[in-house]
Amino acid sequence: MNNFAFSSPTHILFGQGQIAALAGQIPQDAKILVTYGGGSIFKNGVHQQVSEALANHSFGEFGGIEPNPRYETLMEAVSLIRNEGYDYLLAVGGGSVLDGTKFIAAAVCHTGSDPWDILSNDAPVTDALPIGAVLTLPATGSETNGAAVITRGQDKLAFISPRVKPRFAVLDPVTTYSLPPRQVANGVVDAFVHVMEQYLTNGGAPVQDRFSEGLLLTLIEEGPKALATPQDYPVRANLMWAATQALSGLIGVGVPQDWATHALGHELTAHFGIDHGRTLAVVLPAMLRVRREVKKAKLLQFAERVWGITDGSDEARIDSAIAKMESFFRTLDVGTRFGDYELGAADIDTLVAALERKGMTALGEDGGVTPAVAQAVFEAAL
Ligand code: NZQ
Ligand code: ZN
Repeated sequence: MNNFAFSSPTHILFGQGQIAALAGQIPQDAKILVTYGGGSIFKNGVHQQVSEALANHSFGEFGGIEPNPRYETLMEAVSLIRNEGYDYLLAVGGGSVLDGTKFIAAAVCHTGSDPWDILSNDAPVTDALPIGAVLTLPATGSETNGAAVITRGQDKLAFISPRVKPRFAVLDPVTTYSLPPRQVANGVVDAFVHVMEQYLTNGGAPVQDRFSEGLLLTLIEEGPKALATPQDYPVRANLMWAATQALSGLIGVGVPQDWATHALGHELTAHFGIDHGRTLAVVLPAMLRVRREVKKAKLLQFAERVWGITDGSDEARIDSAIAKMESFFRTLDVGTRFGDYELGAADIDTLVAALERKGMTALGEDGGVTPAVAQAVFEAAL
């Protein structure tokens, strides 16, 4: 196991009715800006619960943070905060609202000329406004991690800083009852692939591996149930907690991490607008088929421990494990091929060129995903 430092400072309030307790997490004299997305929180009662919880605080609101949050929208919030003097952010929504709020928190405190440098030039985040989160979509893990993914033009870039980890996160599974099936499925796939990026590498360690396999098995068992019986509280609770743990950082400590599937997936979103989770369902099966030699030992472990495959040659077991994973995504009604999104071979050049332009030419835990390998992965997903 490699050396590591790990802290997870987010105070978690988990369970039905916990939104009511959020006021106790925010200083009484804070001037709060509540951030949200396109309005789902007005339809499912979450906005009302948050407003009631903040009855004795001073707060304003900023809505309209879109899925795959955009720099221009977020900079409007930065101006608002500078003009009105807000000093605490409360993000209410899915990963996009949380990520967007992390960028706002860092951008307000950025001393350079353009906060976009935090994403495009690795400008350090030296300070950020404090953030609290009310999560309504289990998927990204953004509620306890320091990562955010922001889009400007056709650049979809990420930054990571411990300074934007939420101070607290409310995870009430009931808030997820109103999710459309498409978003439930996206979330299951996203969480599944987060585990795979940290587990399905050419390394590993027993504690991290067993935690990861537990999360994968939970997602495989609970994901379809959330679609079949949307108001099943234990199912929603287990899914929400699995998605948080999939990218809280815990399973990735001390082991190699891959993230090439995410890098290729982000190009599919940036250029063709495909939902994040869906891009991963397209890329991961193809990635594992192309990279099966590098990842052989772990693929065999995945086949046995996650899918119960013990018979047949090494190659047959690997084929079967990847096929079962792809078919799991498809049972959630998530397309796994270019054709499912009306894309074809002619679209691959754009994607590979974008990776090259950003210098993403040695991705994966071993730097083995070169532009030629990325091309092969996209071709394997046709
Ligand atoms: O905007 P509203 O009206 O709230 O509607 C949203 C949005 O349309 C809706 N929604 C959310 N909660 C709902 C709900 N609708 C009904 N009931 C609810 N309870 O769902 C739609 C999608 O929301 P979004 O936040 O975009 O989805 P998700 O949570 O999947 O976030 C995706 C974003 O996170 C980034 C992705 O790249 C993408 O931009 N990621 C962030 C990561 C991180 N911070 O660590 C890691 C991930 O790999 C990922 O890249
Ligand atoms: Zn993801």
